Amino acid sequence: MGDSEQSAGAAQPFIQFEHVYKSFDDLPVLVDVSFEVRRGEMVVVLGRSGVGKSVTLKHILGFLKPDSGKVFVEGAEVTQMTEEQLADVRRRVTMVFQSGALFDSLTVGENVAYPLRERAEHGEAMNEDAIQARVTELLEQVDLGDFRDRMPSDLSTGLKRAVAIARALAAKPEAILYDEPTTMVDPLMAQTVGDLILKLKHQTGLTSIVVTHDMKLARKLADRVVFLVEGRVSFFGPMSELDESQESVIQDFIRLDEVSFLENS
Ligand SMILES: Nc1ncnc2c1ncn2[C@@H]1O[C@H](COP(=O)(O)OP(=O)(O)OP(=O)(O)O)[C@@H](O)[C@H]1O
Ligand SMILES: [Mg+2]
Repeated sequence: MGDSEQSAGAAQPFIQFEHVYKSFDDLPVLVDVSFEVRRGEMVVVLGRSGVGKSVTLKHILGFLKPDSGKVFVEGAEVTQMTEEQLADVRRRVTMVFQSGALFDSLTVGENVAYPLRERAEHGEAMNEDAIQARVTELLEQVDLGDFRDRMPSDLSTGLKRAVAIARALAAKPEAILYDEPTTMVDPLMAQTVGDLILKLKHQTGLTSIVVTHDMKLARKLADRVVFLVEGRVSFFGPMSELDESQESVIQDFIRLDEVSFLENS
């Protein structure tokens, strides 16, 4: 690596989309999507249902490939990686899936331990005491210390989300991707999950992307916002500047957020 590349490394984004296009059956879903996430930054991807938010996240982990354009993780082009290199990215960047997707037959503690045991199979062995200690630490971090021996079916959707977050943190990733962390839960639980993500942001300093259509959550968490409208980046910048956008869909989001604020106060 030359000197100029090394000095550019300091400011290199952790995740970067460069003119990404993606269609399914000739239906364009992502159209010229470009944005970047700095190391340690929390970027919120906002937009209506079906606009391509989950599709965006899947490109970062190489589950989907763009028709054209590039996606980089720490300067390495995900779109050009072998399965082995992708497996490495998926250890460094973990995702909390929209569905939560816990193993129903495993206890809460074993769900969280799962990525640690899986790591052992990749030759990064941890002894049982170390695994148990890490699970204790993670469950305390998400305020679930008392739930270690319970089954996922005993837990509310909100608590399951917290378990899924603990599991995503287990293998000490460098970045975490949250897909709709507050949907399908009541407003109070949504607030609890949002507060948890905020706490983890401050405690861990992890690079994060949060996908949501929840404006309240975006205001709480975002360093910067990517607002998708019909597959295009309609706005990319600090939350404070989003309020000044003239785009009608964005104004509708802001207005609806204000209405629900009045209703709840
Ligand atoms: N694997 C796929 N094959 C075909 N079409 C797909 C596939 N994945 C997503 N789509 C389509 O791409 C569009 C965007 O989907 P995506 O799941 O990214 O939406 P979203 O913004 O996450 O919405 P929501 O808020 O409802 O989760 C949708 O029209 C969806 O049907
Ligand atoms: Mg989605």
